[in-house]
Amino acid sequence: MINILLIGSGGREHAFAMALAKSSSCKQLYIMPGNAGTSKHGINVAIDVNEFHLVAQFCLDNHITLLIVGPEDPLVKGLRDFFMADPKLAGIAFVGPDKKGAQMEGSKDWSKQFMQKYGIPTAAYKTFTQHNLEEGIAYLENHSLPIVLKADGLAAGKGVLICESVAEAQAELRAMIAAQKFGSASEKVVIEAFLHGIELSVFVVTDGTHYLVLPSAKDYKRIGEGDTGLNTGGMGAISPVPFADKAFIDKVEETIIKPTINGLKAEDIHYVGFIFVGLMNVNGVPKVIEYNSRMGDPETEVVLPRIQTDMVELMLAAGLGKLNEVNLQIDARTAVTVMLVSKGYPEAFERGKVMSGMDSVEGSTLYHAGTKLSETGEWLSNGGRVMAVTSLGSNIKEALNLSLQNAEKISFENKYYRKDNGFEFL
Ligand code: AMP
Ligand code: GLY
Repeated sequence: MINILLIGSGGREHAFAMALAKSSSCKQLYIMPGNAGTSKHGINVAIDVNEFHLVAQFCLDNHITLLIVGPEDPLVKGLRDFFMADPKLAGIAFVGPDKKGAQMEGSKDWSKQFMQKYGIPTAAYKTFTQHNLEEGIAYLENHSLPIVLKADGLAAGKGVLICESVAEAQAELRAMIAAQKFGSASEKVVIEAFLHGIELSVFVVTDGTHYLVLPSAKDYKRIGEGDTGLNTGGMGAISPVPFADKAFIDKVEETIIKPTINGLKAEDIHYVGFIFVGLMNVNGVPKVIEYNSRMGDPETEVVLPRIQTDMVELMLAAGLGKLNEVNLQIDARTAVTVMLVSKGYPEAFERGKVMSGMDSVEGSTLYHAGTKLSETGEWLSNGGRVMAVTSLGSNIKEALNLSLQNAEKISFENKYYRKDNGFEFL
């Protein structure tokens, strides 16, 4: 029985918290800072994760054996490096890559160079900065359309622009580099060819030596049905992705996952944690769109419910270099999650709406993304994304319908959700 610290505060962390807490190996789970949903599975800790020394002291004071980092930010800032540099902390099984490994997500230019160096299929690209901005403007002249511009650094999910004309791309490139449209994140910009196909994500957990391929998933990022309207953090997800059968995943493993793991080793990066591989299926050929150094949200809300292996055992093995000893068991059923959001999201929305009906939900799991408990014990909405409703079924339609039935039972003013997750496969 061990004490565990989980870092993060979204629906992803609620899903992790639920899976960790139900393990017989979990003595006490702490979530930093957590959300109202996670508080039902452990103790929420109000420490600022950016204060590394406070996180470290908390781990020592509370005899933490296993630490799992949900979001990318503390990883890119070097939380793992801080722990590994201190002999008192280096023995903690830490799931999350170091600063160098987190560049997979933290720098698009770095990850493109990495893919090129190790022959990993991805879109053709070139990187520009203020030193060769005019060269970049000229480079765009003859570029095929549409043109993808990516801010090199983390830009809260907003740093990718898809431009339909050369003039638009040239204006955006100037805005990003010269006018710092995304602050220092766009001091460097990757110009990339547009890939046509269907997107999906494949998740890998690695201990630095061994790896396991987790279930595939697809998220629905647009606010409107039929993939219309503004981009959001994710309006729902499905797992598995129907076309990602064994032959396709084998291809992903051979052409992408193995060279990625070997490339990390060759770069002397001891990568421990999750690799989220965003892919485009280009006529049966998987190509990498992006890497993230964490699990996806809301993809986690469909991937974790399908993992039958004890989550503490899996995470501990990852943190201790023993993933080869784990027998990964996956539920063959399909999971669908439907995200309930506040009307107005991803733009302005109101918080603090009283929520009800959660007790009448049957057959689905609720993962809280943005909720709050009032002083009188009422559940209140407290975010753009409020709650994910996940169901398992024998196919997308069955799982989706169950989630929709239960989504209907949950009430709060200004509730909105998409009813068509998985539509292209129905
Ligand atoms: P990212 O912020 O890297 O997740 O990119 C946002 C979205 O832009 C991706 O999920 C894709 O839908 C799209 N995207 C990024 N790169 C490309 C590309 N090379 N071709 C087509 N779509 C892309
Ligand atoms: N759902 C996409 C992400 O987590 O980045």
